[in-house]
Amino acid sequence: MLEPGVILPKHIAIIMDGNGRWAKQRGLVRTEGHKRGAEVFRKICRYCSDVGVEYVTFYAFSTENWKRSAGEVGAIMNLLREFLEELQQRKAENEFEKTAIRFLGTRDGMAPDIVQLMALVEANAAPDPKIHINVAVNYGGRDEIVRAVRSLMEAGVAAQDVTEQALSDALYTAGQPDPDLIIRPSGEYRLSNFLIWQAAYAEFYFDDILWPDFTPDDLDRAINAYAHRNRRFGGV
Ligand code: FPP
Repeated sequence: MLEPGVILPKHIAIIMDGNGRWAKQRGLVRTEGHKRGAEVFRKICRYCSDVGVEYVTFYAFSTENWKRSAGEVGAIMNLLREFLEELQQRKAENEFEKTAIRFLGTRDGMAPDIVQLMALVEANAAPDPKIHINVAVNYGGRDEIVRAVRSLMEAGVAAQDVTEQALSDALYTAGQPDPDLIIRPSGEYRLSNFLIWQAAYAEFYFDDILWPDFTPDDLDRAINAYAHRNRRFGGV
């Protein structure tokens, strides 16, 4: 349960980790873990919207995840495809629920039908969203920064105009606040190239639970812990 009067983080970012181990523990194939993980993703999106979190970002597929077997990559892409198709079908509902969805990552190397669906879903954003949902797909933090620098150079930006703000505005998260809270379940304590620029002042919360077992109660615990942190942003 959320503590009464708790101040919510404006932006929560989540690394959905532990799907493979969850499946293995149950004698299932890894893709079953991803399937369950995608259901939990939907549940947590809804919960964030219900409690009033304004921005939530999920790490779904990294630029390094292509190294996995073709079968596993294909299964994750199919889950993404299903989600996108579902969103397309529920276009009106999306509007009604005041949601804006953005995909962070490069579309290079992605299946053309998925790229097309991503563009459609992004274009369906509600005009006055209550919640912004970012899904990082084919995303790498270093790759994002390199692409941002290239885009500034291509735009002819002078060296003295390459500021923190200019760089932030060239990232996939342009115009959004940096994450306040980054959650990683599954007992791993690393960022794995996730939002490395945006994470500069984020609070971190680690949990042993595996992503397919993650519930709104676990999110509440993370938010309560965050609310007790003393964020100084380099000040005293
Ligand atoms: C990490 O767990 C998880 C992934 C690389 C994939 C996450 C993808 C989803 C939950 C589905 C995405 C779908 C939508 C609709 C956004 P792991 O496989 O590395 O787990 P392990 O460390 O236990 O092996």
